[in-house]
Amino acid sequence: MKKTKKKVNKKRVLILFLVILIIIILIFLTLNLKSNKTLKDKGYNNLEIIEIEKLTKSEIDTILKYDYNENLIYMIDSENYNPNKLNLYLKYTSKYKDIDYLKMFELINNNEFKETNIDEYVKYLDKYDISNTIKYVNNLKNDVELNDTTNGFLSEKYFIEDNLDRYLSYYEKHKDLSYKEIVKRINSNLDYEFYTDSKAADLSKGMYTLVNKFFYLDKNYVPDDLVDVTGIYARDKAQLKKVAYENFVKMADDARSKGLTLKVTTGYRSYSFQSTLYNNYVKADGVKNADTYSARPGFSEHQLGYSADLTNKDNVSFYEFQYTDEYKWLKDNAHKYGFIMRYSKENEYITGYVFEAWHYRYVGVDVATYIYENNITYEEYYEYFLK
Ligand code: DAL
Ligand code: ZN
Repeated sequence: MKKTKKKVNKKRVLILFLVILIIIILIFLTLNLKSNKTLKDKGYNNLEIIEIEKLTKSEIDTILKYDYNENLIYMIDSENYNPNKLNLYLKYTSKYKDIDYLKMFELINNNEFKETNIDEYVKYLDKYDISNTIKYVNNLKNDVELNDTTNGFLSEKYFIEDNLDRYLSYYEKHKDLSYKEIVKRINSNLDYEFYTDSKAADLSKGMYTLVNKFFYLDKNYVPDDLVDVTGIYARDKAQLKKVAYENFVKMADDARSKGLTLKVTTGYRSYSFQSTLYNNYVKADGVKNADTYSARPGFSEHQLGYSADLTNKDNVSFYEFQYTDEYKWLKDNAHKYGFIMRYSKENEYITGYVFEAWHYRYVGVDVATYIYENNITYEEYYEYFLK
């Protein structure tokens, strides 16, 4: 008797469980069929529905807010698909049907994309590339017109928005030059004469401070933490900023392990010492010539304490240094210790100094490596990355 009651109870529980399960399955199926049906109603075919159903419920809801979108599957399957932008993709690919949806997709994906500017972007998208269009509309629209020339400048790697007017006026006078060359020149201030429009060097930049024919140091400026360079590391009495000294020592030690000798001939120079040097050159050679190899007082990087003129064990002249094995080694290794060859042959017109194979400036390994790998001057680096 007891046994049968237990059996009946068990059976009941089982039936109840099955009924609940069936109800759950039915609810699930109806819900699914409903979204499936709505997707179908929208015009999506079975294959498209399979793809869409891989998305989250909230993405599917977003899709259901819009009419059928023939490019949807390409967008959601793209590796650049961003679920947070799904609403924007759908909204604007349907609003601007004439625009290639891939362009719209890329435009919306761009980090600088601003929805409020969408009507402006679409005016230029046909003719100019997406990132230039965005840069132009976001930052320049009120200043200049977007045409092939502005677009040419916008495409340049070191393009700086604030310099655009200067690029354009330089271009008017130098139409034979490439956009790249004009950007390089303007970023180095070459639309001004050397020693005109000079400004105080920005010492807040620390070891990155730029000193050249446009940026000068006060006559009373003396760097702190200068250390003496002595012994095997110096030919003459010399001083450098501590960090430049320490890295020079590492560089000279590694060079020595390769049988090469590097010695500092001059590091820090005071304003008054530079004055004497420069004035002597002027007396001997005239201003025009002296200016090609000696900085005017206040305008020498040596006053910063981060620059060193080098020689080797044979104590070759500055001129001969370019023919030594030490120079050959420095060319491809100095950056590893944070030094750059500051006045190269190909950039004489940018720096305003003739090639100095012996003059190295400490800027730290990261900056020196970038400059070495990208073959640019410190002027260009500073203007683009540090100013
Ligand atoms: N010779 C370098 C340019 C100087 O005088 O600082
Ligand atoms: Zn020098």
